[in-house]
Amino acid sequence: MTAQELREKYLEFFKSKGHTVILSASLVPRETDTSTLFTTAGMHPLVPYLLGEEHPGGRRVTSVQKCVRTGDIDDVGDNRHLTFFEMMGNWSFGDYFKKEAIEWSFEFLTGQEWLGLDPKRLYVTTFKGENGIPRDETAIEVWKETFAKSGMDVAVAGEDEIIKDNVRIIPLGTEDNFWIAGATGPCGGDTEMFYDTRPEDGPMDGQKFGDLVDSFRLIEIWNDVFMEFNKTAEGEYEKLAKPNVDTGMGVERTLAVLNGKENVFETELFKDIFHKIALLMPQKMEPNIPYSEEIRPHQQWYADLSEEKKHSARIIADHIRASVFIISDGIEPNNVGRGYVLRRLIRRMVRHGKLLGIDVNFAKSLAYAVIEEFKEFYPELKTNENRIVEELEKEENKFRQTLEKGLKEFNKLSAVTAAEAFALYQSYGFPLEMTAELAKEKGMEVDKEEFEAEFKKHQDLSRTASAGAFKGGLQGTGEMETKYHTATHLLLAALREILGLETYQKGSNITAERLRFDFNYPEKVSPEKLKEIEDLVNQKIQEGIAVEMTEMSKEEALKTAKVSFDPAKYGDIVKVYKIGDFSIELCGGPHVKNLSELGRFKIKKEEASSAGVRRIKAVLE
Ligand code: ALA
Repeated sequence: MTAQELREKYLEFFKSKGHTVILSASLVPRETDTSTLFTTAGMHPLVPYLLGEEHPGGRRVTSVQKCVRTGDIDDVGDNRHLTFFEMMGNWSFGDYFKKEAIEWSFEFLTGQEWLGLDPKRLYVTTFKGENGIPRDETAIEVWKETFAKSGMDVAVAGEDEIIKDNVRIIPLGTEDNFWIAGATGPCGGDTEMFYDTRPEDGPMDGQKFGDLVDSFRLIEIWNDVFMEFNKTAEGEYEKLAKPNVDTGMGVERTLAVLNGKENVFETELFKDIFHKIALLMPQKMEPNIPYSEEIRPHQQWYADLSEEKKHSARIIADHIRASVFIISDGIEPNNVGRGYVLRRLIRRMVRHGKLLGIDVNFAKSLAYAVIEEFKEFYPELKTNENRIVEELEKEENKFRQTLEKGLKEFNKLSAVTAAEAFALYQSYGFPLEMTAELAKEKGMEVDKEEFEAEFKKHQDLSRTASAGAFKGGLQGTGEMETKYHTATHLLLAALREILGLETYQKGSNITAERLRFDFNYPEKVSPEKLKEIEDLVNQKIQEGIAVEMTEMSKEEALKTAKVSFDPAKYGDIVKVYKIGDFSIELCGGPHVKNLSELGRFKIKKEEASSAGVRRIKAVLE
């Protein structure tokens, strides 16, 4: 079965069960959704409807949704993790519930005119009950009845999760069988379906379910979530007025299972990409395995690569797919948020190309393979083709200019400190994660804590900047900028103390050299007052106060923060930065850990910015 046939069958099946087929939403979540950078599941664009809004397509919809998950970005390269993947799903908005969802899942999986999988190779998990939410007896009953219809009398595993006799149903806890997209939102217990990919290994009797999953013998292919709650920012589970069904079935994994492949990279979805990589790889890299589709199918070429090269080939194949789709949805490489994720994907791909001996630009050629593969189902790729290849080419050119030199610099190091990682980033455009990966490959010890602090600074910046949650005007990611950012908080607090509490921020702009800050004030600020403001900031710096960050709900922050903010512009959970009692502000960060890092604060200029708005330029010396 091809990917296109699988997608069509899925949609056709649920259409026959009264569902409206909806198109994949963009990978970029709608503006009001700041919970994630990218669409991570089929349910993501449907959250408002899962919370009770009426969907124009009715109460049953089905789709194939393009998804990007970046949490696992550094795991990509093993057999299963993909950054970009497609998720088939069906939804009930307060309509059908457990019985229909389970019966239809089973029918689609095992029905001869649908996927025709062997029911004897199916195992399912259910929610065993935890945190005050009871065990899902209904799901267990429905599964028993459903299996019984195909002549199978199935039993439920005990706490030990051991497979024996006719055990097919394994109840598991919150970690495995309770699903929520992020920190808050619609959620509930779920039931997951697994397929035995290696029946030739013999009976599973006596083995633990989790071990069979870890050894990839059992592969999860489908998840039916029974959404009964909405988790609030306070961590409470509110019962939804009407329960929903949210399901997700991965196209790549299902395709692998259907075609008897060990993993997703052996499916036809990756065929043309690997074909192109093989043709680009100089023969000297793998002299024993020349590639030609006639004499050696792509799976065989791939299977014969050394483990290291396989790893690189997978990373390239995954990252080019993700990059093509992300650019197609309007993102270009840059240093914040989605753009930074994209940049990391492209640069990591180029670096792994180098490990395969590919020293010429190749992203463009691989992109054409991706567009060809997907253009029928996602016609936007063809529409955006020129922009996609231009962006890839531009970013690849930019990075190739510094890659060689950066690698030389890196190779001189015998240990990598966070500062060196940062220098590699600034001078050669090495994303920090790439430096960490390089260090790991060389078996170098890296100071994890230091690195993580550095990473966190970047991630915070990325997430908040692209979520629009950070309006502080921060432009870069360097240490100086971070310092100016904290200094800006101090300046605002000092202005409010000296000029009055009615003073608030009108704008801010930071470079590595200075800060610029606009605020409302009816007249020129006198030199005496400016001196008082400057002195107050320096006094606080000298006190060496710690900068503390707390995450809290928006409601709580509105009560706590010294400066009010527009709640509509922020997600449910916000970050609040506190500098003693002096400054308490809602902010995305990053900030220094302690004011003592700032040095001396000096106001260089005070001038009018516009009517009723003054502008201060200041530096740290
Ligand atoms: N939303 C559920 C998942 O992604 C179906 O697994």
